[in-house]
Amino acid sequence: MVNKFKTFYRHIIEEERKYPEATGQLSDLLADIALACKVISLEVNRAGLIDILGFTGEENIQGEQVKKLDVFANDILTHVMKQGGHICAVCSEEEENFIPIEEQFTDNKFMSNKYVCHFDPLDGSSNIEANVSIGTIFSVYKRISKSGPGSLEDCLQRGVSQVAAGYVIYGSSSMLAYTTGNGVHLFTLDPSVGEFLLSNENIKIPKKSKIYSVNEGNQSKWSKGINNFVSYIKQNDKDSGRPYSSRYIGSLVADFHRNLLYGGVFLYPADSKNTSGKLRLMYEANPLSFIVEQAGGRSSDGKQRILEVTPENLHQRTPLFIGSEDDVKLIEKFLSEEK
Ligand code: AHG
Ligand code: MN
Ligand code: MN
Repeated sequence: MVNKFKTFYRHIIEEERKYPEATGQLSDLLADIALACKVISLEVNRAGLIDILGFTGEENIQGEQVKKLDVFANDILTHVMKQGGHICAVCSEEEENFIPIEEQFTDNKFMSNKYVCHFDPLDGSSNIEANVSIGTIFSVYKRISKSGPGSLEDCLQRGVSQVAAGYVIYGSSSMLAYTTGNGVHLFTLDPSVGEFLLSNENIKIPKKSKIYSVNEGNQSKWSKGINNFVSYIKQNDKDSGRPYSSRYIGSLVADFHRNLLYGGVFLYPADSKNTSGKLRLMYEANPLSFIVEQAGGRSSDGKQRILEVTPENLHQRTPLFIGSEDDVKLIEKFLSEEK
């Protein structure tokens, strides 16, 4: 654990100084995201006390029942992004289309809104009422178009083009993990000062693990290869570290965060019901894949790196195998051998 009294903003400024050509806009954008997540954290922690639990009664583009906190988190993030002046488009799991944003005219000049942000505003929302950890996932790209409000082309970029990605997990404490391509760094929110303080720098995920995370309730719908992998890791074989332990929270951010720190592999395969998988490429798989690769892990859809998948649409789903490198490779091997 690092005990440097260093705030998230100070850390991003120090990262920025490594790039002489940096304008400071990415740092401001990341600070804006952290601010929005502090507000969400406050609301999540007192949700039980105010009338913000439960369903809104609407259904989102994903065909899922929307929770009041989903809407709250989405509204805060899109509002902070709009006023920040650094982005040309916001894409949210909760919004059917991307939200184009005009350049802002401040100090007698146009700010160049050169970034695009993707959000899963609240991940794991089915767990809110049970007081289980939930989170926010974010992903930042540089725009492709030159100026004006962003376009769909700006929003549909491969994960390899991300300039930053991260998540905030609202648990026993709120923690923020992020990368700009120079390692993965972890901060803990100190509510008394209202700052995310550095707690781990350059996190590395163990190459091989003893933990697997999958919803075994879907077992009857899995392919042969996934069934063979899960049966294999349950067999008793001390030399190869089997059986693995099963840990499944049902909040991707929480399962991912534990696996990042302890080692582990998370699987959400395609199955006979979700033929492209359940999780979203742009809002969940890409940002967490950028992070896991920066931590020395691996993330694939079973055939290729998630980060190299070319998105066809904003809400595209993907099978996701993410975590310790050797375990993800083993899954790919079982899938390649399935007949
Ligand atoms: P979200 O709350 O943003 O819709 O995400 C829920 C996801 C993810 O957090 C979790 O890993 C997965 O749904 C759980 O799915 P199952 O309940 O089907 O296992
Ligand atoms: Mn989610
Ligand atoms: Mn969500």
